[in-house]
Amino acid sequence: MKVGILTGGGDCPGLNAVIRAVVRRGDQLGLECMGLREGWRGLYDGGAAFQMRLTRETVSGILHIGGTILGTSRTNPFKKEDGERRVFENMARLNLGALIAIGGEDTLGAAAKFSTKGLNVVGVPKTIDNDLSGTDFTFGFDTAVSIATEAIDRLHSTAESHKRVMVCEVMGRHAGWIAVYSGIAGGADVILVPEIPVNLDEVCGNIQARHSRGKNFSIVVVAEGARIAAGTSTTDSTINAGLDEFGHVRLGGVGAYLAGEIEKRTGFETRVTVLGHIQRGGTPTAHDRVLATRYGVRAAELVAASDFGKMAALRGTEIAAVPLAEAVRELKTVDLRLMELAKTFSG
Ligand code: F6P
Repeated sequence: MKVGILTGGGDCPGLNAVIRAVVRRGDQLGLECMGLREGWRGLYDGGAAFQMRLTRETVSGILHIGGTILGTSRTNPFKKEDGERRVFENMARLNLGALIAIGGEDTLGAAAKFSTKGLNVVGVPKTIDNDLSGTDFTFGFDTAVSIATEAIDRLHSTAESHKRVMVCEVMGRHAGWIAVYSGIAGGADVILVPEIPVNLDEVCGNIQARHSRGKNFSIVVVAEGARIAAGTSTTDSTINAGLDEFGHVRLGGVGAYLAGEIEKRTGFETRVTVLGHIQRGGTPTAHDRVLATRYGVRAAELVAASDFGKMAALRGTEIAAVPLAEAVRELKTVDLRLMELAKTFSG
């Protein structure tokens, strides 16, 4: 069988490891792989410029390389004129018996919808945000956490030297997994996530309490999607707003706002560092390479077994197959027990 592979949404360390694993396992199982460039755009367009032959040779040497050799986009096929029809037509025209969609909530949301309409599709869970349900972890998350943790470690020494408060803004649109993991790993004094409205009085109170105990610097980790609670103050963290085809705003500004408020309210000199796309770029950690490889192998096996409408998922230590619909039903937000644990180390 010939199988199409696409990578959609924000890129993520480990995408190439998945592609390589699908092709290598697919080769053993008699699958012929074709890459579709730029996510759903590639399948929607279907032209030669959007096709890439994937063989053992073309995927050689990409395991450790960040980004995706297929390119990506936030194209939503259901927002395109005639999108649904063109996707089915191109699948038939390119003689593709199945599709492997590697993506997060948006890419897999579209895959789940196509699955209900009869497309033979299998999903692989990708996002540095780790906010997909149905799987314990997405690949890419571990790399993002490692990068953020290293940044927090580095911020510690400069914060201490200058007796400053350092605000570190990390990614996490709707879920604060990167903030809470890197915050705990990096020993942050305050961790702020989208799941819990930010109470500025509490944040400043914690910092003041810490400084009155003799500490003269503090580290605050904030997820880009964190919201300042009504009643204390509000911020519009959608500065530079713009909507993508899946209706998401482009976030930005919460770290800078927070830094300004902390300095104004506490009198402590405060700086902000926005890690941004550095968290998504570059080589995946060993953990993510292994996870991505396991996902890719399982996805190829699901296709070979004609077990469609599923997503490869990590459940405990096993790679399971869960219904795509389950994976995209709701976002997986931060386990609040982790936030409780983090509180032990705040203030
Ligand atoms: O979805 C992953 C993510 O990295 C989010 O954390 C972030 O809000 C968004 O992508 C940024 O997207 P873009 O690459 O379009 O700036």
